[in-house]
Amino acid sequence: MSEELELEDLKGVGSKTAEKLDEAGLNEGMSIATMSAGELAEKADLGESSAQTIITSARQKVDVGGFETGMDKHERRKGMKRITTSCEAFDEILGGGIESQCITEFYGEYGSAKTQISHQLAVNVQLPEGAGGMDRGAVYIDTEDTFTPERVEQMAEDKDLDPEEVLENIHVARAFNSDHQVLLAEEAQDICQENDIGLVVVDSLTAQFRSDYVGRGELAERQQKLNKHMNTLLRLANSHNAAVVVTNQVMSNPDQMFGDPTKAIGGHIVAHNSAVRLYLRKSKKDKRIARLVDSPYMPEGEAVFKVKDRGIIGDN
Ligand SMILES: Nc1ncnc2c1ncn2[C@@H]1O[C@H](COP(=O)(O)OP(=O)(O)O)[C@@H](O)[C@H]1O
Ligand SMILES: [Mg+2]
Repeated sequence: MSEELELEDLKGVGSKTAEKLDEAGLNEGMSIATMSAGELAEKADLGESSAQTIITSARQKVDVGGFETGMDKHERRKGMKRITTSCEAFDEILGGGIESQCITEFYGEYGSAKTQISHQLAVNVQLPEGAGGMDRGAVYIDTEDTFTPERVEQMAEDKDLDPEEVLENIHVARAFNSDHQVLLAEEAQDICQENDIGLVVVDSLTAQFRSDYVGRGELAERQQKLNKHMNTLLRLANSHNAAVVVTNQVMSNPDQMFGDPTKAIGGHIVAHNSAVRLYLRKSKKDKRIARLVDSPYMPEGEAVFKVKDRGIIGDN
């Protein structure tokens, strides 16, 4: 499939429509091909039927999936890359590290190391291939204002990487509310295209949604937006062969009388959109336990790791 698809090669796209699409940031075949007509019509200010024509044409030009043979899938997955967590046992339960082409979710209570892992992966993706990385940069959507350049420097030094260079290769944006977060993920499409990005982090995926939609009546709307947001992220993963890592809190609110205290927020929508799910919990001192809860092909498993000044390490 071509990432350099010319907009005007699409059926129903003249110079004016091409301009509209371009203004809406839709200059990539895969993005258009995986949208619904309503979504495209709204974003690019088009009629629904013209939007449908464009989408159909885009789908014919790019390979969006649908049915494929087992062999096709096998070929696609051969291009899959992995990022090391810096802990051997942790990588092992994941089948070798965090995968590209899908969303990996880390959920756990406050202090369970979700943000530390996010930092570590933003560093590790920059390691050479063969040394646990992809030799590519990262996009980091920070919704809780916890991105810490000093932590990145410490972790980079430990890997013998140039800390300044590593920071240069992490494109950080602070999301101020859930709408802003959604917008940033859409804009990441451009950043991924202009820079060589192998990892997109959203830390935290759900915090802003949780505070923006408090009433019960708003739950459906929240879930719908979250679903769309995750579709945008999945599109990034597929069109750039990138790993997407999202973090999620658990409902550990003691005021909450009902519900499992270890249940991730975001419910089915987040769980369904995350191919790989890991539950993190605190153990003694600097020890943390990661449990693989959901994976398309790996069995459930647990790994112990530690958080140190130099970053994530194994427990031995
Ligand atoms: N420089 C450091 N050295 C050792 N441990 C650290 C360091 N920085 C953070 N930590 C550990 O990481 C924990 C916070 O983890 P964090 O990833 O922020 O949690 P979460 O995002 O899940 O709320 C702290 O409780 C602390 O134990
Ligand atoms: Mg955090």
